[in-house]
Amino acid sequence: MLPLSLALLAASLVTAASVGPSPGQIKSLVTFGDSYTDVVSVGDGGVAWPVYAAGYGHFALHPFARSGATCSNNLTNRPFPSVFESQLPLFLQEKANGSLKLNEEETIFTLWIGTNDVGANALLTGGQTPGVTIVDTVSCAVNWVKTLYNAGARNFLFQNMIPLEQTILYSPRFYPNRFWTAERNSTEWSLCMNELTNSGNEIAKLMLQQLAPTLRGAHLGLFDSHALFTDILQHPQLYLNGTAPLNTTGVIHSCVFELNESTSDPGVCTDVTGTDRDSFLWFDELHPSEQADRVVARQITNSILRLSDKWTTWLS
Ligand SMILES: *[C@@H]1O[C@H](CO)[C@@H](O)[C@H](O)[C@H]1NC(C)=O
Ligand SMILES: *[C@@H]1O[C@H](CO)[C@@H](O)[C@H](O)[C@H]1NC(C)=O
Ligand SMILES: *[C@@H]1O[C@H](CO)[C@@H](O)[C@H](O)[C@H]1NC(C)=O
Ligand SMILES: *[C@@H]1O[C@H](CO)[C@@H](O)[C@H](O)[C@H]1NC(C)=O
Ligand SMILES: *[C@@H]1O[C@H](CO)[C@@H](O)[C@H](O)[C@H]1NC(C)=O
Ligand SMILES: *[C@@H]1O[C@H](CO)[C@@H](O)[C@H](O)[C@H]1NC(C)=O
Repeated sequence: MLPLSLALLAASLVTAASVGPSPGQIKSLVTFGDSYTDVVSVGDGGVAWPVYAAGYGHFALHPFARSGATCSNNLTNRPFPSVFESQLPLFLQEKANGSLKLNEEETIFTLWIGTNDVGANALLTGGQTPGVTIVDTVSCAVNWVKTLYNAGARNFLFQNMIPLEQTILYSPRFYPNRFWTAERNSTEWSLCMNELTNSGNEIAKLMLQQLAPTLRGAHLGLFDSHALFTDILQHPQLYLNGTAPLNTTGVIHSCVFELNESTSDPGVCTDVTGTDRDSFLWFDELHPSEQADRVVARQITNSILRLSDKWTTWLS
């Protein structure tokens, strides 16, 4: 009996050791995505999560995410630098010409995409290339893993979509804002967005589960942003720490427009200032606050350093 149980123990240790990077293994962070992750055109009104994560985890940061991005302009065409037509080509170029040198074992790649793919002017309002659905935009995001793997990358963290139907833009609390001023039925938008985020995340999970065993020598994690933001909504006192009453419905930087007003107008803006800001989950009608991004950064760092796998499922 003893040799058998020892063998089982050894086998389980080997399995445990092979899932996810080991603590201390990762030293560089390469980020892809949209305004939720852009460190130059920052969506949260302060410092973006990758900068916090690089600080918390002492990672060298190589940021490729760009505001307004979708996964591919072939699918949901917006005049912004998408992952497949802009961010990946730039990364591959810098790698090929030697301006970016990475030790692949010590580098992790992250992708947080989908907000613009499913949103207004894209899937939600019929702005996609005819025939494109949530299956295509999510397949595209999953294909980011395969593309980078083929280029030598070995460690991945895939961040799924947050409950976007809770943002003012996509909730029944909608008011005309910088992102949308035309007539719409807010109840329908919110119902539809709830379907898109939940079904898109489920499709991503199933596809990643299928992909993981095919990528020899890789570590692939699924970071459940949706569950994290749901937990912040349900238990804000665990995450928000400003000096105003905790607030998961209002926003720090609110700009109210007239119906049909040009979105390039300034709108009528109200700002929460100082330490009150850290009481808010949302920065504006679409973006998480800086404190929410500190939380994202802390949890991503904990996942990468293997301090806690609370929001991450390592598939390999
Ligand atoms: C986008 O379309 C071009 C031209 O048809 C094609 O070469 C490219 O592979 C497509 N990219 C994606 C991500 O589908
Ligand atoms: C490498 O390619 C990047 C992206 O096109 C460019 O910015 C950089 O100047 C190039 N570096 C060299 C050494 O050619
Ligand atoms: C908006 O959509 C909801 C859900 O489909 C529907 O119940 C409601 O009547 C609609 N409101 C208007 C003003 O059309
Ligand atoms: C809230 O906590 C973060 C760390 O997550 C800290 O950087 C920030 O200063 C705190 N905010 C306030 C108002 O104390
Ligand atoms: C949340 O913040 C908004 C904007 O400042 C404000 O109008 C609203 O009353 C706040 N809600 C709570 C519950 O404090
Ligand atoms: C807004 O624009 C729509 C479409 O052009 C029009 O039907 C509607 O009457 C306009 N509403 C207002 C309040 O201007």
